Amino acid sequence: MQAVCDAIQPNTRMIFCETPVNPHLTVYDLQAIAEIAQQYQLISVVDNTFMTPLLQQPINFGIDIVVHSATKFLNGHGDVIAGIVCGDCSHLEPIRMHSLKDIGAVISPHDAWLILRGMKTLDVRMQRHCQNAQLIAEYLEQHPQVEQVFYPGLETDAGYRFIGQQMVAAGGLVAFTLKADLSQCQAFINRLQLFSIAVSLGDAESLIQHPASMTHSPYTPEMRLQAGITDNLIRISAGLEDAEDIIADLAQALAQVN
Ligand SMILES: Cc1ncc(COP(=O)(O)O)c(C=O)c1O
Repeated sequence: MQAVCDAIQPNTRMIFCETPVNPHLTVYDLQAIAEIAQQYQLISVVDNTFMTPLLQQPINFGIDIVVHSATKFLNGHGDVIAGIVCGDCSHLEPIRMHSLKDIGAVISPHDAWLILRGMKTLDVRMQRHCQNAQLIAEYLEQHPQVEQVFYPGLETDAGYRFIGQQMVAAGGLVAFTLKADLSQCQAFINRLQLFSIAVSLGDAESLIQHPASMTHSPYTPEMRLQAGITDNLIRISAGLEDAEDIIADLAQALAQVN
């Protein structure tokens, strides 16, 4: 948290945080962030997309504004692009009056309906996403071709201490590094049959992406290195399929990594 304090400048107005953060799923202490924001009279904002309100409620820890990409778990079916901002009126009214009214990014009725329909099954879907992610993480952790697994549901992960405190469960995203170079990692991803290659997350289908060449490709190699985005880092969004099928697909693709 010292790094957060050190980064505050005289013109700083807001602390923006994502937890667990993409793609390493590092968990940040929301109460500590809220306290720093209050101490320096800053607005605190948390992107809660990876958790959904079912697994984590940042406002209960003193955070001012919570944002969600509804494109992901809230809708849950990969067929909508939308976002949600939550907070009290003093924070939301300027957003409504200026950003929404002046810029006009208003959701269509059909997309709003799809999200409402998706949210009817959020509870059961999140249970399955979390269950599958946990089984995937445990499988990968013991695999000889896997270098490291990043998932707060593993006891060995630094984020594990927040489960049951700040977050109800560890969520549906798992990241890992392979003992392989760039082309071997890409070949591994291409061998998968059940996964779709996609940068999104939270869909019914299992998704996989290679941050260095996909989400984080606009970064320079130096910036990627600094952020720990190595060429052998891979991120999975665990879908709703049978965990045995997901793991069997990973197993066949991993068996050919050498
Ligand atoms: C954590 C997080 N927040 C926000 C977004 C933006 O989402 P959208 O596609 O709905 O603009 C993403 C997209 O990947 C994300 O991963």
